[in-house]
Amino acid sequence: MTQITLRRPDDWHLHLRDGDMLQAVAPETARHFGRAIIMPNLVPPVVTGAQASAYRDRILAALPEGSAFEPLMTLYLTEDTDPEDLARAHTDGLIKAVKLYPAGATTNSASGVKNFDKVRPVLEKMAEIGCPLCVHGEVVDDDVDIFDREAVFIDRILDPLRQATPGLRVVMEHITTAQGADYARSGGKDLGATITTHHLVINRNAILAGGIKPHYYCLPVAKREEHRLALRKAATSGEACYFLGTDSAPHLDGAKLAPCGCAGCFTATNTMSILAEVFEQDCALDELEAFASLNGPAFYGLPVNAESITLTKGDPVTYPDRIQTPNGDVTVFDPMMPLHWRVS
Ligand code: NCD
Ligand code: ZN
Repeated sequence: MTQITLRRPDDWHLHLRDGDMLQAVAPETARHFGRAIIMPNLVPPVVTGAQASAYRDRILAALPEGSAFEPLMTLYLTEDTDPEDLARAHTDGLIKAVKLYPAGATTNSASGVKNFDKVRPVLEKMAEIGCPLCVHGEVVDDDVDIFDREAVFIDRILDPLRQATPGLRVVMEHITTAQGADYARSGGKDLGATITTHHLVINRNAILAGGIKPHYYCLPVAKREEHRLALRKAATSGEACYFLGTDSAPHLDGAKLAPCGCAGCFTATNTMSILAEVFEQDCALDELEAFASLNGPAFYGLPVNAESITLTKGDPVTYPDRIQTPNGDVTVFDPMMPLHWRVS
């Protein structure tokens, strides 16, 4: 196969940031993607419907002239979230999901949830109105090894939370383990999981072997090779519970390369070429559309995009190493392999 045509893909987990960074990265996603679920972990976070509405306007203003890209907004769940404000924003069609960060789990998560009992009324309201909860699934306990934090979260937090809130629709965001893939598969129609581009490509050796590579450091951190292979199997299976959420998370190089470097890989620019390469390697190009364009809308109850994109195989395609912003550069994720599929 040297050419494939897919419904235009969507990104079900994306960080666009704000200000100069938003201006720099929004066009990178809008080039190939129809829609994206926009993460609310700004500083301060997007917690109210009014804030989500204003942020949506700033995103639309940052898009290239004529772009039809549609930002799908989310609210950042805090222990003070007002269930009625949330329900209104959802009913009005302004927000498509709510994001749960355990406090301290990742970049800009300080306002996240510490005591899960405090958000019970909000979760019940979400179950009632059918608003999905996007979960950053890692415990933050000091006694839990960082490589075990996802698997422990499933047992200690996620499974009890789902059992206590029947009907709550949950997306396990950016799963990184075989346990995550298995749990998502076993969860029925109310459970889905996003998988990033980079977790299909790198294992933890990419970060740590042969010198430390800050540009491969993200959260949840990449795990052992057996987990990467489990994610590849899940993504390329075409199964409805798995869909693309790039978690493209731009940070200035200065912040990535600091003594305490930020977590996040920036994959917005080259994701579709990388995914085509990965799916081809696994003899699963015919499942790429399910993963990138069909399963996500089905989970969120949205129509698939009307337009299509075509990927053509040829000589290696190159992407810029860096995206420029007025405050410094953002390094584009290096997949450490030649890419042959270009989006035409
Ligand atoms: C994300 C970010 O930078 O906002 N970082 C990351 O490593 N993925 C936050 C997140 O999704 O965990
Ligand atoms: Zn993220």
